[in-house]
Amino acid sequence: MSITAVTTTLDAGVLSIVLNRPEKKNALTHAMYAAMADALERAEQEAGIRVSLITGTGDAFTSGNDLGDFMSAPPQGAEAPVFRFLRAISSAAKPVVAAVNGLAVGVGTTMLLHCDLVYAARSATFTAPFVNLALVPEAASSLLLPQRIGHAKAAELFLLGARLDAAQAEAAGLVAAVFDDAALLSEAATRAKALAAKAPNAVRLTKALMKRQPEPVAARMAEEARHFGAQLASPEVREAITAFMQKRAPDFSKIA
Ligand code: COA
Repeated sequence: MSITAVTTTLDAGVLSIVLNRPEKKNALTHAMYAAMADALERAEQEAGIRVSLITGTGDAFTSGNDLGDFMSAPPQGAEAPVFRFLRAISSAAKPVVAAVNGLAVGVGTTMLLHCDLVYAARSATFTAPFVNLALVPEAASSLLLPQRIGHAKAAELFLLGARLDAAQAEAAGLVAAVFDDAALLSEAATRAKALAAKAPNAVRLTKALMKRQPEPVAARMAEEARHFGAQLASPEVREAITAFMQKRAPDFSKIA
């Protein structure tokens, strides 16, 4: 794999991040994840970059994690390139646009859930065959995909390894628009440049507001349990339970 497997170019405030390993359907190696993380981190830091645009060369957007890497060098620790990339794309304050030029497999589909504008070529297809590999979804996609496209379709993608074509992905709400293959990149770039020209703080604030998540149920239950435990040890509860046992009304008047 050469160093050029991910190329970046900056034009009119848009940092294009191009996956360029077409002979392997743009399967993502550690080095490619690292290069993508570097590029997204650079975009956050440089004032001249307003928008990132991710696309691929050839007939694939990406076939997902390089399966050879999975076997020979599985990601380990929070600083593993894949986790750096997922942190960068999921926490980017500046907008990220995706132009899905073909196959989007695994993280090729799940990364889209963190992008702000997703455009697809008519030939694009979307799969998330984690269970087929005896794996589970990543990138918070077990939360975000059902939220985005509904449980029914998400379950088919995740559990059965089913595929959405571009029109189905658009209908499901995974992509904003579908273009002829030859027009995809220029259509996506036009929109990315239009976004790059808009008021940057308004764009960033709007993105942040749109991405704000309701808490996951587990987080809510954990917080409830924390308060519940603290209350059980409190004077209020002691008074309430004592009053019950003494068959009288509780008196909370002395409690601050
Ligand atoms: N990791 C490593 N190599 C991959 C790859 C991946 N994720 N996806 C494709 N490749 C390689 C193939 O092994 C093949 O290499 P070779 O030419 O040395 O044999 C080359 O890319 C072309 O792929 P090929 O399978 O011949 O193309 P295709 O059009 O018939 O099928 C895919 C494309 C993406 C459907 C198929 O390659 C595939 O299912 N890949 C695995 C996808 C996957 O499971 N990703 C992880 C999800 S969690």
